[in-house]
Parts: sequence; C-alpha cells; structure tokens
Amino acid sequence: MQTYLHGRDLIGDLDFSREEVETALEVAFDLKRKRALNEPHALLRDKVLAMMFFFSSTRTRGSFEAGMAQLGGHGAFIESRSTQIAHGDTPKEIGEIFGRYFDGIAIRHVDWKIGNKYIHEVAKHSRVPVLNMQCDIYHPFQILADLMTVIEKKGRDLRQRKMVVSWAYASSYQKPMSVPQSLILQMPRFGLDVVLAHPPEFKLMPEIMDQAREQARKYRTGFDVVDDMDAAFKDADVVYAKSWGAMVHTSDEKEGARIISKYSSWITDERRLKLAKPDAIYMHPLPADRNIEVTDEVIDGPNSVVYDEAENRMHVQKAVMALTMS
Ligand code: CP
Repeated sequence: MQTYLHGRDLIGDLDFSREEVETALEVAFDLKRKRALNEPHALLRDKVLAMMFFFSSTRTRGSFEAGMAQLGGHGAFIESRSTQIAHGDTPKEIGEIFGRYFDGIAIRHVDWKIGNKYIHEVAKHSRVPVLNMQCDIYHPFQILADLMTVIEKKGRDLRQRKMVVSWAYASSYQKPMSVPQSLILQMPRFGLDVVLAHPPEFKLMPEIMDQAREQARKYRTGFDVVDDMDAAFKDADVVYAKSWGAMVHTSDEKEGARIISKYSSWITDERRLKLAKPDAIYMHPLPADRNIEVTDEVIDGPNSVVYDEAENRMHVQKAVMALTMS
C-alpha cells in the first residue's frame, strides 16, 4: 500500500499509480463505513478547499462540499463568473494566491482544449494540491467512484469481467469526452476487459487511446473498439453508456450536432440491456438525457446502480482529500 500522497495533485487518471488508487479506495471504503456508523472522522479540521467551477454541476459540487464538511473542514464554492478572471486574473495568479489562502484547489473546467491546460497551469504555481473536478480530457474522481461501485457490485477480482464503455445519443449539447477517456485509462489497471463502442465520428483522443492500449497490455486485459452497440453489449458484466461530442472529428459545433442526430438509435433500452448478462449493472455518471440516452425502464430498473455510483463520489473524494491535504 502506497500511503504517502501528501501534497499530491490529481489531474489525470494515471497521476496516481495503481497501488495509490488502491490506497484511495481502501480509505474510501473505511470512510463510507464510518459515515454509516456516524463515527466522527474530522481528518481535515480547519482545512479549506477552493472549489472553482467554470461549468455547472450537481453531484461534483454537492459531494465535494459535503465531503469537506464531514472531514471537519470547509469547501468554498467559487463560480468563475463571479471572480475577476474575466478581468485579468491569470491561472498563475489563481495558483499563487489561492495556494496561500486554501489547503487545496479543486477546479472544473471542461472547455475543449482549454480546461486541462488551465488546471495544469494553476497547479504549476500552487503550493497546495490541485484536484481535477472534470476537464476536457479527464474526470478522475468520477472514475474512482465508478471503480468503487464496480468492486461493491462485482467483487475485487474483476479479471474476465467485461465492461462496455459506449457512446449514447443525446441531443442536448456536445458533452465532454472526459468520462469515457478516464474509464478506458483506469479500468484496465483493475482487471476489467474493456470494449469501447462508438459511431465512427466519435473517436476519443489518439494519445488517450494509445495510453489505454498500453495500460491494457501492461495489466493483460482486453481492449477492443467496435462501432456496433448491440455487439458491444453482448455478455457484458458492466454497461456504461453515455453521450460525448464529436470534437476529435470536427471543431465545427453545428457539424457536430448534425452528426449526433444521425445516431438516435444508440440508446440503452430494455432490449439492448438483455444482450448483456442478466446480472449486468447499468452505470451512468449523470445527468442523463432520459429516454434519449437511456430509457426510464433501464435507469430506474433493477440493473441500474446510478445512485450508488453518485454516492460513491463523496467517499472517494473524501479519501483523496484526506490523503493529499492532511
Ligand atoms: N457526474 C458529474 O460529474 O455530475 P455533475 O456534472 O452534476 O457534477
């Protein structure tokens, strides 16, 4: 077990080694048990986390803020629009100054080709840990929660288990590709055979694909890419289907929206879920476009674990904050 995580950033999924992720999960399970028993666990008494949002959030804000309070500290909600960033505060200034006020800086910035660079620039100038609450490339805390949920439902030995990471139709907007990218990076390290399914225009970033293939080789797991949602679902143990944008294919938003409209049949419905194993779990980070990405019958049905998944955000985040900010 690697326990010395004090002062570390978590920006990309591979920033923590596999052993360090295992440590974070061990702590998360312990903190989940402590909360269930109402056992005090004020590991971050008097510590304050800056929570900077450049994009909306329900779960991320709620879980980080509640988590900091449960750890005896405070999460300060800072909406970028209400700061002086538009009037000139640079990422260097945010890192330097907030690094002196706060004990950690968490940032959500999902703008394509901007968010990840911004978070790294803040981290370069910060004396305290910087935590990625989702950028254009990664959503590491979502995936830690997903991993915790898969372990709870399927056990710790995930070898020979098939996880489908599938694109799904959604007409609302071009969603970030951070969730599927983080999934294909992290899950092979824990033994899951990953099948990535998407229409041809929804490729993920080539460098992330290379890293995912490398992780699969290193941990001797399967990693296949298909363009058929039905074929991907066949005999799956874990079904994770959500929408993302065609940003790698085109930078033209109107063209991206036109492409999305071609694939309205990519929905997780009861027929498709039946192609997976009978005890397959259905996962989604939420918010979902109901009856567009997934039917009510599936997301509210017996295979769905979406609320446990959302709950686990709080436990894994508390674990990483306690390990890095104490
Ligand atoms: N899953 C997730 O990150 O949810 P929010 O966008 O509501 O934070």
